[in-house]
Amino acid sequence: MPHVLNFVFRVFFKLDKETRLFFGLPYRLHSEDRKILDRKLLPWFAARNDVKKVLFVGCDSYTVHYKEYFLEDEYWTLEPDPLKKKFGSRNHIIGQLEDLANYVSENYFDLIICNGIYGWGLDEKEAIEKAFTSCYNCLGNNGFLILGWNNLPERTLVPLSNIKALHLFTPFEDLAIGGPTIITQTKHKHIFDLYRVKKKTNIDY
Ligand SMILES: C[S@@+](CC[C@H](N)C(=O)[O-])C[C@H]1O[C@@H](n2cnc3c(N)ncnc32)[C@H](O)[C@@H]1O
Repeated sequence: MPHVLNFVFRVFFKLDKETRLFFGLPYRLHSEDRKILDRKLLPWFAARNDVKKVLFVGCDSYTVHYKEYFLEDEYWTLEPDPLKKKFGSRNHIIGQLEDLANYVSENYFDLIICNGIYGWGLDEKEAIEKAFTSCYNCLGNNGFLILGWNNLPERTLVPLSNIKALHLFTPFEDLAIGGPTIITQTKHKHIFDLYRVKKKTNIDY
């Protein structure tokens, strides 16, 4: 009997998930990388006093709840697909990360979360360089970048080690969250690289 209940529960749960994804209803993923992002990284950054303006890049039904971490902050989302605007925040940009400087001023953000973008549309070397340079320009002095990516050949057509723009950042770590590189054991070989903007000079604050 417990097996039958377990089976029924699993079928129901699966249907529920698929139905939610199909209708674009908010949904939370529970993979190991999501647990690290949802339960460790986002709460830790949200609690920092020097993180007040946040950009989350790339929206979907399973990213809607991220705004809840930043209720006391200015939380922005950016997504090129206009149909996904409904998954974005009140401050939402329809556009590409490469063009971020067209929408906000220099040094605007304290934290940019770029998870599953590199390798998922951001694939050309020129575009990747432009996107991370834009992150640097639109992050303030010592601003943070969370870069989540899949360490699979098909998702790393241009290796990150070839990207010069990442030299504008310094790897970041903290005892509470780990880093600078957090490797997960997921089938997608998801990795989080934590970065902080290298000190900028000649900035008028
Ligand atoms: C795999 S999803 C990742 C969504 C989300 N960031 C997450 O944590 O799962 C990839 C998303 O990246 C978006 N995307 C692709 N190229 C992009 C670019 N150049 N700039 C910003 N977003 C891009 C896609 O439209 C898509 O919504």
